[in-house]
Amino acid sequence: MEKAAKEIRMRFCDFGQGHVFKFWEILSDDERIRLLQQAKNIDLEYFSNIIHSVLHGRRVNDDFLSNIQPAKFIKFPNSEADWQRCSGISHIGGQKIREGKVAVFMVAGGHSTRLGRSVPKGMVPITPIKKKPIFQVFAEKILAAEKKYEQKFHWIILTSDKTHNETIEFFGKNNSFGIENIHFIKQGLMPAIDYDGKIIMEARDKIAMHPNGHGGALTALGQSGMLSMLENAGVDTISYLQVDNPLVRCVDPYLIGTHAKNQAQITSRMVKKLYPEEKVGVFCEYNGRMRVIEYSDLPKECAMARTPAGELQFYAGNTAIHVFDLDFIKRFNGDDIQSEIPYHMAKKIIPTIDNLGEPYVPDSPNGIKLEMFIFDAFPFAERSVIVESNRSEIFSPVKNSEGMDSPKTCKQDQLRLFAHWLLQAGAEIPVDATGLPPFDIEISPMFADNEKDFMKKWVKLENKPAIGPGQYVE
Ligand code: UD1
Repeated sequence: MEKAAKEIRMRFCDFGQGHVFKFWEILSDDERIRLLQQAKNIDLEYFSNIIHSVLHGRRVNDDFLSNIQPAKFIKFPNSEADWQRCSGISHIGGQKIREGKVAVFMVAGGHSTRLGRSVPKGMVPITPIKKKPIFQVFAEKILAAEKKYEQKFHWIILTSDKTHNETIEFFGKNNSFGIENIHFIKQGLMPAIDYDGKIIMEARDKIAMHPNGHGGALTALGQSGMLSMLENAGVDTISYLQVDNPLVRCVDPYLIGTHAKNQAQITSRMVKKLYPEEKVGVFCEYNGRMRVIEYSDLPKECAMARTPAGELQFYAGNTAIHVFDLDFIKRFNGDDIQSEIPYHMAKKIIPTIDNLGEPYVPDSPNGIKLEMFIFDAFPFAERSVIVESNRSEIFSPVKNSEGMDSPKTCKQDQLRLFAHWLLQAGAEIPVDATGLPPFDIEISPMFADNEKDFMKKWVKLENKPAIGPGQYVE
């Protein structure tokens, strides 16, 4: 061990990171082993290149900003002919789903810290009456699709170091809500750095590590063996979702049909941005390729720019609902485009140690977390399609404890959606000018997770329940 330890320490010195072993002489044997274990898993060459490009590269270069164009997309249907066309496309998607070619992939590495909780976000209760946790809502949507399409889906959940054990335990306690083919994969980690590019130590024997962003999901799928497993199972299409949006349709025949019909590598749902500062990425086009530019990177003048008709110029908001070709994801596991996905930096408070090795938590940001974003893979796709969607049907993310995009707004959006389905199906329910009913109701995804299926089932229901406060339709 002595020799190996010396080599690792020397290597860290060569890369200007020798301080990682500052307390080596006073560490116990166990502490030394722990630190070496962590250190040897860091590819210093790769990591140094990333540090250099993050600290010294331009985040978004001028050429990019002066040449981006709003993305082209398929407009929301607004005529009978459009709806007919959509129905044909959904049929194509349905066929593909029925043939077992689709798997569901959800990124759930995030914690619910911004919601003021300390559990994986998927465990946060979200439905109006039954208070089902987000994970259960997704599970029921997948189960309903399994019944409808007579297919068992593989559901892969990306966790992080922070959420992995708790997520597995939660599903274990709930018998995976009845889903048979469920898989948990952990995303990779990156060391945190200070503003000079030096690795931050969390303890004398511990490097401060954090998840490498959902951009790491593409390689995590390969490294975990999931890509080969899916390929062997005959899957060629991945339905990609974020855990924070309980309204999403997990297995969406229209999106999958659009993807198949256009032989796309990526197909995404977009919604109109509500206001310039809304915290959603925007779809745009650069050099003939589709991209998402994150809200934090979009210059204010672009975010505010309006067309002569008064609409936002960049209004195609990223819902983070995508369909990927399995073959496209494979390209990030093997050939050299994997290293082309850039890292973004986020300044954060990172618990660390002082000169004497004593732990402390600074009161202001002291370092940088490095993260890859999934949508930085988009420009590598030769064929991508964006579909305009109705926000109220598919998008109500839960990000903040209060105000916009909070559990409260998500609950209201669910209530509006349920009331809308009921009204469309001819039921009576009072609503205000925004479509919100004055009391709580809930429709189980096992009954229906979209308007069309709801109407079909509701019409056939012999003893229709009277819709009033607390009514749960299952
Ligand atoms: C994200 C998108 C934004 C989009 C919006 C829609 C990014 C960078 N931005 O913003 O373009 O308009 O959603 O709601 O994604 N996650 C992991 N591992 C990580 C980091 C995140 O699994 O290392 C998961 C989280 O659990 C969550 C999702 O990724 O499900 C979104 O991450 P977050 O960082 O919260 O992005 P947003 O700012 O919400």
